[in-house]
Amino acid sequence: NRIYRDGVLGRRPAIPTDFAALEKAARRRMSRRAWAYVAGGAGAGTTMDANRAAFDRHRIVPRLLRDVSRRDLSVELFGRRIPAPVLFAPVGAAELVHPEADVAIAEAAAELGVPYIFSNQGCAPMEDAAAAKDRAAGPGGAPHWFQLYWSTDEQLVDSLIGRAERSGADALVVTLDTTMLGWRPQDLNIGSLPFARGEGIAQYTSDPRFVRIVKDRVRAAAGSKADVEVTWGAVRSLIAMSRRYPGALAANLRSPEPRAAVETFLDIYSRPSLSWEDIATLRGRTRLPVLLKGVLHPDDARRAMDEGLDGIIVSNHGGRQVDGAIGSLDALEVIAPVVDGRAAVLLDSGVRGGADVFKALALGADAVTVGRPHLYGLALGGRDGARDAVANIIAEFDLTLGLAGLTSVGEVARDSLS
Ligand code: FNR
Repeated sequence: NRIYRDGVLGRRPAIPTDFAALEKAARRRMSRRAWAYVAGGAGAGTTMDANRAAFDRHRIVPRLLRDVSRRDLSVELFGRRIPAPVLFAPVGAAELVHPEADVAIAEAAAELGVPYIFSNQGCAPMEDAAAAKDRAAGPGGAPHWFQLYWSTDEQLVDSLIGRAERSGADALVVTLDTTMLGWRPQDLNIGSLPFARGEGIAQYTSDPRFVRIVKDRVRAAAGSKADVEVTWGAVRSLIAMSRRYPGALAANLRSPEPRAAVETFLDIYSRPSLSWEDIATLRGRTRLPVLLKGVLHPDDARRAMDEGLDGIIVSNHGGRQVDGAIGSLDALEVIAPVVDGRAAVLLDSGVRGGADVFKALALGADAVTVGRPHLYGLALGGRDGARDAVANIIAEFDLTLGLAGLTSVGEVARDSLS
């Protein structure tokens, strides 16, 4: 409504209202490094193309004369009602885009009342982002979830899960498609992978277990206990400073402790040997609902149901991991019948506007998440930009729903498509 009223009054919205223009404007504002990292995909980019092609292949068939004057976009996820089925996807190293990054995105999501899934590769400790979210939320608070990358260090896994629980997360998302970082030519060609300069490791450097591992390493290398105890505080303040002044950490990576922190992170952040047996241990390790992110094959969805998981996120990581992979919406079409309402099904990768949200719900998703749209909003307008980017998608979805002749999310079904 606000956007339309502004339009009638001749006011331009703060950020472009369609993805193509949003992306173009954001690119002008972003550094070369940030653009390569955010916009880039795996290999030749054919998975990103497949994501869009799948959305374009499905067409909505509007119905008429069905009183759509009142519409309800809300959905219930894990016992909590959220105002719209659009969540903020977890994004790592977002300080490349904006110095406030995770804190600003957490506030943006809180203002809309929908969850931000804090990334394990976030650039603010989850406790800080959760506190910012609570300050920004209206009465009743706002939800957030936590996304875990399964470390080779099991104690670190438990430590991160414990922190997620204590910081009030409503769900735990375990991302499984990034046991190794994909082949990303846009980053590789400019010789810049984000984490190597210390971006996206705040979840680790704020973790007591990680701190202990780094201290032990530095101590083993230096052969002195006292030195390490004294200088570790400096590492922390460097990391904090790097959030305000990107580059500060990079400049100090020559000194032993920050370098040890980054090297330790690169060594232990992910475990390629992870198997279903590890996933089975999760039940005893957390009271939170658990979702698996990156599911694309119906047999993996079936196994997730057998293991009693609470949800899956059908995703190809925004086309950033496997080049030539199936479009996420195509995967959803075969996976949703397998889950058959037994668990929550979310979808991401390529959601750009309200029609995409509608099509995902029609093919069986309970909700979607978006990544690049909120990052481009963040690049253009900080917290407000991130908020508006997602608010626009929700507003467009609201109109699509009504114009298709429906009044609630639950009514969106396969027969709404051709
Ligand atoms: C991501 N994604 C991601 N996923 C995850 O589980 N943990 C992470 O730390 C990140 N980091 C990350 C950084 C950036 C810059 C992007 C663009 C994406 C993947 C993300 O959660 C989501 O799956 C995709 O972004 C969805 O695709 P779209 O909306 O970007 O097309």
